[in-house]
Amino acid sequence: MDNNNQGTVKRVLISEDELRKAIETAGKQITQEYAGKPVLLVSILKGAFIFLGDLCRCIDLPCRLDFMEAKSYSGSTTESCGQVTITMDLKHDISKYHVIIVEDIIDTGRTLSEVIKILKGRNPLSLRIVTLLDKPARRVVKLDADVSLFTIPDYFVVGYSLDYNGYHRNLPYIAEFEA
Ligand code: IMP
Ligand code: MG
Repeated sequence: MDNNNQGTVKRVLISEDELRKAIETAGKQITQEYAGKPVLLVSILKGAFIFLGDLCRCIDLPCRLDFMEAKSYSGSTTESCGQVTITMDLKHDISKYHVIIVEDIIDTGRTLSEVIKILKGRNPLSLRIVTLLDKPARRVVKLDADVSLFTIPDYFVVGYSLDYNGYHRNLPYIAEFEA
């Protein structure tokens, strides 16, 4: 982060109320489908931390959390590159868990497809992707989420832990953004 450019927040795209309702529904679905199973919610930092925090409180099951950090935006703040680096790894042995990846947004799909390759190699009991946002128009790698709460057009968005240049994660809604 070598400059303080914050860009411009243009308009609210998904309100707090819409987020809350969709997350409650997703939480209920997970509660029903994973009853009696050892669940590990895996979040990829930092863009999904608020989604994870809200989603896990809508899951009425014993479950554990783990975090991993993957970087894919080197050189640009709005476009991912092909190379994905795991900068912080999970602490759990995932072969003992039904893993649910809790992701903020699937854009090109590059980051998550690399993360999935790595996690599948560790033989989880099962592996699913729950993403808050999906931008299918931008996909360069074939990848579908098992659950996607909102499909959005090809806008760069911020808020609800998604950032531009490290800013705007603290907005309580998802907003369309202009650099
Ligand atoms: P992908 O590898 O292009 O699918 O995107 C990887 C990551 O880039 C996502 O998990 C987000 O953290 C970030 N990202 C993608 N699109 C946006 C956006 O519109 N706003 C903020 N972050 C984004
Ligand atoms: Mg992310």
